Amino acid sequence: MTVSGSVLAGLSEAVIDEFTAIVGPAHVLVGEDLTAPFQTDWTRRWSGPCGAVLRPADRDQVSRILRACHARGLSVVPQGGNTGLVGGSVPRAGGSDIVLSLTRLDHLGEVDRTAGQVDAGAGVTLARLQAAAAIAGYGAGMDLGARDSATVGGLAACNAGGLRTVRDGTARQRITGIEAVLADGSVIRRMSGLVKDTAGYDLPGLLIGSEGTLGVITEVRWRLVPERPARATALVRLDSVTEAESVAAALRDALPSLELLELMTEAGIALTLEHLGASAPLPVTAAWLLVECAARTSPADELIDALEALDLAERTVMAPGATGRRQMLRIRESHTDAVSRAGTPHKFDVGIPIGRLASFVEAATATSRRIAPGSQFIVWGHLGDGNLHVNVLGAPPDEERLDAAMLALTAAHDGTISAEHGIGVHKPAYLSLVRSDADRAAMAAIKAALDPGGILNPGVIFGTAA
Ligand code: FAD
Ligand code: MLT
Ligand code: ZN
Repeated sequence: MTVSGSVLAGLSEAVIDEFTAIVGPAHVLVGEDLTAPFQTDWTRRWSGPCGAVLRPADRDQVSRILRACHARGLSVVPQGGNTGLVGGSVPRAGGSDIVLSLTRLDHLGEVDRTAGQVDAGAGVTLARLQAAAAIAGYGAGMDLGARDSATVGGLAACNAGGLRTVRDGTARQRITGIEAVLADGSVIRRMSGLVKDTAGYDLPGLLIGSEGTLGVITEVRWRLVPERPARATALVRLDSVTEAESVAAALRDALPSLELLELMTEAGIALTLEHLGASAPLPVTAAWLLVECAARTSPADELIDALEALDLAERTVMAPGATGRRQMLRIRESHTDAVSRAGTPHKFDVGIPIGRLASFVEAATATSRRIAPGSQFIVWGHLGDGNLHVNVLGAPPDEERLDAAMLALTAAHDGTISAEHGIGVHKPAYLSLVRSDADRAAMAAIKAALDPGGILNPGVIFGTAA
């Protein structure tokens, strides 16, 4: 640690000493060498300097840090696994003061079998939560490609979704309790795990999806799902997104054990297979649907019957076993990596009403061709949730017209500009497309009431307006 580094970045020795007294010298990181990994996001699109990275060990240290920052007007960027995709987890280009890394808050409680719930510190990774749940005979009810790094605090802050949302919902459905530190250092704690609790405002519900702008989440109470050990997984080749959309609707209605319903399309499949050096388990067509059912006893017959009823048996490959299943899932999950290796995409995470997905994809393809000729349009996503990940490779990163047109198109389809990744610093300018003046004013009033100094994650959700 070099104090001169911190002085250069704008934090006085007195401030650094105060933080050092709270978290200990080993957990106050200053100087480019130490702070660099915390300053750039996963996509490499967003980056900014900070005065220090602080790594508190517990809720009380978080509270003391925030009290100090509040008193001095220092801004704070909460950070978990830094796998967010909208730039909210790293300092702003204009210069933020403190990155508050929550990964040391990694206490994981015993699974409470009576309630089917578990307490997890904000820094517990999803993979660790899944492993603990499995040992106790449960599932976490959530899965996503960044599981080894993404933390439960980050999942809560983004209201993350992922590959199992069609069955088990987003983080909002999985979390029954939250402990958080507000901007002034005060602590709210609602960790009793009550499934129903209507005593006043749902503050945990408000913090879920607040992207670090209303409070720092220090612990969550996670609601597990019953173990579903028997799985059947199928990959279905289809001729168009239109066909995929109607097949998805039919499968959703026919399959009580449906747990995963994911779309891949031709360009993304080809890029990902090349990236993985893998061969295709079935011919590459305009669209593939990955379908998985899970239950206590084998759902294979249920899945096969549903596919046969839709006359899709000939166009389906069933995963022959655990290895085949993992390969199919890997192709779907590796789309993010494959695209990221190929360049820095314009990334959109839109939610579109089911029934209008195919027409959106058609219009979005035309939009990207018009605004960024020669770019590559790649779409995949959680079809069962109406959540599409549109990625445009090859357009200049600062081509704002592409973002504006794509998100306006989304709004014109009655969609949302963020289904699961959040607004971050990427999309504040477009929030008015999907939230009215009154709606944004109410959100700004909540922000001002809980964080009057505007120290928590400035720039996120509201842009420079808050
Ligand atoms: P970070 O990236 O560190 O932070 C994300 C946001 O949450 C920031 O605004 C940050 O300030 C805030 N934050 C973090 N921790 C806290 C806290 N304790 N208190 C308050 N605010 C906090 N997301 C999905 O929803 N579904 C997917 O399928 C999915 N797949 C992904 C696959 C890959 C390969 C990658 C790289 C990302 C994927 N993501 C997905 C995005 C990302 O993993 C999620 O948004 C995740 O919730 C971020 O968790 P994190 O701990 O990394 O948070
Ligand atoms: C996904 O579902 O693949 C993720 O949300 C990540 C992404 O959109 O790249
Ligand atoms: Zn996703």
